[in-house]
Amino acid sequence: MDRWAGKVAVVTGASVGIGSAITKALVKKSVIVVGLARRKEKLQEITNQLGKDKFFGVVCDLRSEADIVKAFDWVQENLGGADILINNAGVTGDSPIIDSTVEDFRKILDINVIAPAICAREYVKSAKKQNIAGHIINISSLAGHNADIVIVPINMYGASKYALTALAVELRHELSDTNIKVTNISPAEVRTDMMKNFYNDSAIYETLPILNDSDVSDAVMYALATPPDVEVIDILLATRGRSHALQGPVTQIMQKKRNEQKE
Ligand SMILES: NC(=O)c1ccc[n+]([C@@H]2O[C@H](COP(=O)([O-])OP(=O)(O)OC[C@H]3O[C@@H](n4cnc5c(N)ncnc54)[C@H](OP(=O)(O)O)[C@@H]3O)[C@@H](O)[C@H]2O)c1
Repeated sequence: MDRWAGKVAVVTGASVGIGSAITKALVKKSVIVVGLARRKEKLQEITNQLGKDKFFGVVCDLRSEADIVKAFDWVQENLGGADILINNAGVTGDSPIIDSTVEDFRKILDINVIAPAICAREYVKSAKKQNIAGHIINISSLAGHNADIVIVPINMYGASKYALTALAVELRHELSDTNIKVTNISPAEVRTDMMKNFYNDSAIYETLPILNDSDVSDAVMYALATPPDVEVIDILLATRGRSHALQGPVTQIMQKKRNEQKE
């Protein structure tokens, strides 16, 4: 990791959860992080915690191309461009596809697929000019490899993460004549607000045998630390005995949701 010290990383969705964990792990290794997210107060909390010369929060709605372009322009003008891009931000949905609006579909696809593509384009524009050794890391999901293992409703989330799997392959092809690596990290359930909101029952949520955000940031650090001629394609992560351990809590929560819908 030493070669990244003093370099610049853009992390999307840095305000909470996995993005915040990745940010903290990078700063610990002396990487300067620019975090993109909508919640200014959350970004400010991270600046207060890490220091204003180590973390720069940029308010950005990833559904807006103009916001993304402006954010990368800011990085170029103020820090000379980014060396690492972590496409982390993502959202899910728990309404059935057959009951959802096109806007519901678009929101997930905009944030989980279109934004990573725009960020990659803007990042590469500057990285290529400077001929840097860079790295794009997309935080995908196990749901982007095997939709059958997800037994709760996730709307277009699975489709979006399959798209992210293909997006990484496409970028890797396009960047094969550069020094920029492309890696996906594909975790199963992780203890963040995304899961907390889905389970919406603290007694069940607190005891779920799921990954911690640091498990994902550890995988990111591993991919970044590989030698120049080694490219990690994808890391699939899950807690041991996941399917068996989650069956009970998932059945319980789904029953609760069905009862609430009936009321
Ligand atoms: N948690 C899991 O179980 C799990 C499992 C596998 C993969 N993942 C993936 O891991 C990534 C991070 O998830 P997480 O669990 O950390 O989620 P989270 O706690 O809900 O955080 C989501 C992050 O995305 C940002 N975000 C959402 N919409 C945005 C928008 N329109 N513009 C800018 N930022 C936006 C949020 O920031 P603001 O709200 O401040 O904008 C927040 O920082 C996602 O790609 C997710 O699919 C999560």
